[in-house]
Amino acid sequence: MILVLLGPPGAGKGTQAPRLCAEFILRQLSSGDVLRAEKRKGTPLGDQVAWFMVSGNLVPDAIVTEVMLAQLKDPAGRRGFLLDGFPRTATQAESLDKSLRSNGKRVNLVLSLQVADEEIVERITGRRICPTCDRVYHLRYHPPAKPDICDVDQTPLILRDDDTVAVVARRLATYHEMTKPLEMYYREQGVLVEVDAAQSPDEVFARMIEIVRGRWEGGS
Ligand code: AP5
Repeated sequence: MILVLLGPPGAGKGTQAPRLCAEFILRQLSSGDVLRAEKRKGTPLGDQVAWFMVSGNLVPDAIVTEVMLAQLKDPAGRRGFLLDGFPRTATQAESLDKSLRSNGKRVNLVLSLQVADEEIVERITGRRICPTCDRVYHLRYHPPAKPDICDVDQTPLILRDDDTVAVVARRLATYHEMTKPLEMYYREQGVLVEVDAAQSPDEVFARMIEIVRGRWEGGS
């Protein structure tokens, strides 16, 4: 199964992805996590993408596509992939389709998370992450047990450098211009399902499970 999570920044893709992967035995491929790891390691690729990420612009299609399609070759013993944050443009979606087709596969399901822009700003500016294990918290909705400390490895939590109000506005504009049109692309393929992501994380997860099971058991 190839499952894609589509949605604006802060919609909850990174919150739901590990839970879905555990439930359906999928390998999670998150373009943002992959690119951030390169930045952290200070690789040439990391240096190349840093400006795009911190300014809220998309990394060029050729770079992201090459990195993501290379990872798609190895399901690491899982039953398929969950793609979080990729594809994000029409060019990326077409490259993904072409690559999957050459292996007799296709995108089976796209869950498109729907959240109002005002709620997005609240979610993103309140988000804190663990720089060691990438665990995601929220000051109000999902606080750590000890203020500003990761529950898992006790590392001090940080604000992502692209989680400022100004950069969030840019990321949202980029989403509406470049990524939102993908809903139509996948709707025409008959694989898009919209999910109300303004509910609590548990409610969103329960709805997603229901949709994936319906598709999976329906054999599509
Ligand atoms: P990326 O890391 O993919 O960022 P994003 O898409 O902007 O998504 P986020 O990680 O901000 O949000 P999320 O949906 O995962 O929300 P989360 O679960 O954390 O990309 C970063 C950058 O990398 C891009 O700007 C671009 O430069 C580059 N890039 C990446 N992919 C690319 C591509 N394909 N092409 C080109 N460039 C690319 O939740 C947010 C907060 O809300 C958390 O604090 C969480 O606890 C809370 N929360 C989650 N769900 C709920 C809920 N239901 N109710 C209340 N709070 C909630």
